[in-house]
Amino acid sequence: MTGRTVVVGVCGGVAAFKAAALVSALRREGAAVWVAVTRSGRRFVGEATFRALSHNPVLVDLWDPHGPDPEPHVALGERADLVVVAPATAHTLAKLAAGLADDPVCAVVLSTRAPVLLAPAMAESMWLHPATRRNVQALREMGYRFVGPTYGRLASGQEGWGRMAEPEEILKAARELLQPLPHG
Ligand SMILES: Cc1cc2nc3c(=O)[nH]c(=O)nc-3n(C[C@H](O)[C@H](O)[C@H](O)COP(=O)(O)O)c2cc1C
Repeated sequence: MTGRTVVVGVCGGVAAFKAAALVSALRREGAAVWVAVTRSGRRFVGEATFRALSHNPVLVDLWDPHGPDPEPHVALGERADLVVVAPATAHTLAKLAAGLADDPVCAVVLSTRAPVLLAPAMAESMWLHPATRRNVQALREMGYRFVGPTYGRLASGQEGWGRMAEPEEILKAARELLQPLPHG
């Protein structure tokens, strides 16, 4: 992944702690990594963790007056060769399906022309809800790619559908989406 830029969007789910391992693994593979976090995401993992692991400032506020870019979400969207949202909450899936952009993660996703990989994580009831099913279908039709969720142990302690794909699996899907285009 050397020479490629990956933006990781982190939303407010328990699986946000696994996003730290993903950021670390992407860096290990040679990618330049930038992180955008929703307000809820920050309640699970702090900005300092992502700044330390990505070696870059973290986009936590579209209105940050101190950042170098006047429109940071557009700058990140344009810089990205791939955007990965992990975890992607039910709420963010709904916002993306509707084309909303009032937080750092959704705003970057809407600003990019790069492939977008979504790694949903939520309670089984949320994943199976007709609204989420409809949103996932709409997102697939718009060209968004998905990795997981899988069946397994959820934050509640119960087993079910909604467990976020492991960082290694997300990394594998990211590698596939970043495959160099054939020359000519
Ligand atoms: C302890 C806790 C755990 C949560 N875990 C999840 C989760 O795994 N998946 C999910 O979709 N929402 C989860 N939520 C709800 C989201 O945080 C909430 O819908 C929030 O608005 C999501 O905002 P965001 O998508 O902008 O990050 C959780 C909430 C709490 C308080």
